[in-house]
Amino acid sequence: MNRRRFINTVTAATAGVAMSGFIPMYANSRKTTDALALLGGTPVRKNKAWQKWPQWDAAKFNPKMNEVMENLVWSRSKNVSEFEKKWAEINGSKHCLSTVNGTNALSAAWMQSDLHPGDEVICSPYTFSASIFGILYKGAMPVWADIDPATFQIDPQKIKEKITSRTKGILPVHICGYPSDMPAIMKIAKEHRLFVVEDACQAHLAEIDGQRVGTFGNAGCFSFQTSKNLAIGEGGGILTNDTEYYDRLYSYHNFGYASGSVSGQISSITALILANKIRMAEYQAVIGLCQLEKLEEQHKLRNENGAYLNEKLAAYPGITPVKLHKGATAASYYIYAMVYNQDKLDGLSRDKFIEALTAEGIPMSTGYPNDPLYGQPMMREMFNSDIYKKFYTADELDFEKYKQKNHCPSLIKTYNSALWIWKGGVMLGSKSDMNDIVNAVDKIHNNVKKLKST
Ligand SMILES: Cc1ncc(COP(=O)(O)O)c(C=O)c1O
Repeated sequence: MNRRRFINTVTAATAGVAMSGFIPMYANSRKTTDALALLGGTPVRKNKAWQKWPQWDAAKFNPKMNEVMENLVWSRSKNVSEFEKKWAEINGSKHCLSTVNGTNALSAAWMQSDLHPGDEVICSPYTFSASIFGILYKGAMPVWADIDPATFQIDPQKIKEKITSRTKGILPVHICGYPSDMPAIMKIAKEHRLFVVEDACQAHLAEIDGQRVGTFGNAGCFSFQTSKNLAIGEGGGILTNDTEYYDRLYSYHNFGYASGSVSGQISSITALILANKIRMAEYQAVIGLCQLEKLEEQHKLRNENGAYLNEKLAAYPGITPVKLHKGATAASYYIYAMVYNQDKLDGLSRDKFIEALTAEGIPMSTGYPNDPLYGQPMMREMFNSDIYKKFYTADELDFEKYKQKNHCPSLIKTYNSALWIWKGGVMLGSKSDMNDIVNAVDKIHNNVKKLKST
């Protein structure tokens, strides 16, 4: 049987048995010896497009957009409130405040926390600058707790080891859309009275024991930037169950004007708190409301595909799908992530593996480059600032010592071994699309020697 017929047969068989609730383990026994696309063979995905991202049903959604544009009410109004109400409801949170983007959601969450210069916040290092700007604005010190290289998430045991009398907060980042271990993190936070801001910017609808991420900590921050599972273009949201804190956040996002329990004269120009203006616009909210219509369905599909790939790809030495920690009941699969081990693939380099897979039509990358936040120029700039010099000793601001003290070996290992499938529409594909990913991996496994010799 030629390869294409084999795949078709398997796909049809899979569809048949899937209906009866049983999916066969066939990838293990596959032996796809066709020539690699990188070496002149036919790509697994020849002339096949992935699902597009973002998605827009023009016939259904354009009238809604036209309505808001023609109403000429473009600044924050009823659509923004409706979007916030729905996002709070879907996640099971008391309040949601929308913002212009995820970066500002995170910054606002820290700006309205009781954080001061000289305080420490324990952060997850597998992320980028947007996660920590707010901590730095407050003059606080990010302290880095290493990740678990199997889950990519901050390791609760490492958090414990970093706690001092100055620790005031924790920043878990549900990176790639896989949930961090929030029950363990919240246990530590309660014991030490720490403020927790969850960076859930990549983790829409991910769950632990049925509870959605972003609702465990004092605040949960989301991004609705174009690539995200809820895509608005730009947009952000903060979930919280604390009404007084929500009022302060509302005031903060609106020039510091009075709001709810932040008492003062309403509709004045009196700024009661040092603030910002980071309000979502009406047309952003309408895009969000349109996207929300499909989100749960898409989430289900991403999880079905994620579970399928986890099962099939686990059979291949050298690539290990990222694990959900025990208790995690759903990931958002914003990114489908794996760990690469070249020793188990005859020493084939990660770059070569990615090159070969990409040639087969599977979009894959290494993820974040090896550039830890604790060594970035932004941190050096803070250390040289007047405020940091006032509140920290010269020894604490010795940048080389800071880097050494915060060095996270598992993070570095992950930078050098991660594989990311990060293209919005891939995880919304059909079973046949998922089989293409498995088949491409299978093909590479069966051609490792040839690939290495090129
Ligand atoms: C982990 C993480 N944190 C924060 C952000 C910032 O969100 P935004 O791009 O909406 O400002 C993003 C998204 O870019 C993110 O992936």
